[in-house]
Amino acid sequence: MSSATWLRQHLPVRMTWPTVARELGLSGTKVRKVKTTKLGIEVALRLTPPTTHVTIERVADGVAVAYGAARVRVRLSELRADLVSISIDFTRSVGIVPLPDFHHPVGIPLDPLRSFALGIDDDGESVSGKFYGHHILVGGIPGSGKSNALRVFLAHLSASRNVSLFGIDPKRVELTLWQERFTHLVLGNDATETIELLESLHAEINRRTRHLSTLGSAKLLPSEEFPWIVLLVDEWAEVAAGGSSKERARADELLRRYVSLGRAVGCTAILCTQRPTSEVIDVGTRTLLNERFALRCGDRHQAEAILSAGTFQPGDLIGASVGRALWSDGGPAKPVQFFEVIDDLVGDLSCAGYRPSHF
Ligand SMILES: Nc1ncnc2c1ncn2[C@@H]1O[C@H](COP(=O)(O)OP(=O)(O)O)[C@@H](O)[C@H]1O
Ligand SMILES: [Mg+2]
Repeated sequence: MSSATWLRQHLPVRMTWPTVARELGLSGTKVRKVKTTKLGIEVALRLTPPTTHVTIERVADGVAVAYGAARVRVRLSELRADLVSISIDFTRSVGIVPLPDFHHPVGIPLDPLRSFALGIDDDGESVSGKFYGHHILVGGIPGSGKSNALRVFLAHLSASRNVSLFGIDPKRVELTLWQERFTHLVLGNDATETIELLESLHAEINRRTRHLSTLGSAKLLPSEEFPWIVLLVDEWAEVAAGGSSKERARADELLRRYVSLGRAVGCTAILCTQRPTSEVIDVGTRTLLNERFALRCGDRHQAEAILSAGTFQPGDLIGASVGRALWSDGGPAKPVQFFEVIDDLVGDLSCAGYRPSHF
């Protein structure tokens, strides 16, 4: 048995660290705290020169090998350059987490501007965000959990007041379950219907833009007259795939324009794609999709098509379990394991009665 394996099995980390550090050529590291997390252990270190966070990052793989861990993540302190913590993960993902019940009095829709809980991070902490005025892109290979992620957003959106849902579901699978809550849903890849829907949304954007200009105001909050419009597309690459190439190009152009003009007037989109390539996602449109979630990808190029290079560690995506994503709003990506929303829950979550009536 190697000494590293023996140490891992027989000694707590506080005692093994000096040996591991010595073997990896690190000097001047002191263990401040050891904490267990959902994935393994987190060791807080104080560094003295010449050891810096760069040195630690360089030997992270060695630390993983020494402890027989799945990976090691190095985190810097925001306040002090001499403090780092390293997470030694024995598993890669916290795994499946069911959607918690969100209890609210029946018949009272929730505030659409509240924070939406999406799942948990690698330490088991809850991950949430506010999405009014933000477009969302969800990418990943088939089976990675895109449609489930869509359900998590739908669960929150459906339960909100003054939210009007529009959908395009080229594969007719996912959005059908929520049909009653939708103001309008195009099932299938019929080009005429898709173009009609997108054109009607453009007419609405124009109405809102005119309204804002008469008010002399720059921001529109969700109201009965101007609900937050969310356009959900389950497979971007398949939109209007049943039409001629001219119709497809028209639908594509309308969708891109919706994304660029809608945000300021309370019209946002959630786009899913299983083909995260630069053909589907051009850089200009991607920049406008400010909340991006990369579920499991085939390779780092696909992940970069979603998140853009430099915002994530490619190794973080490899072997990602179903439902685990990296989420970037343009800055460094953070992990989120989406809650699981099973079919049986959708009926209760869809809140058909909350659909804006006149819309
Ligand atoms: N966050 C998750 N937690 C647990 N199971 C999930 C999660 N996301 C997806 N799954 C399961 O994985 C399978 C594929 O998910 P799906 O959302 O349909 O993937 P995609 O739309 O990317 O093809 C489904 O059976 C689903 O129940
Ligand atoms: Mg799907």
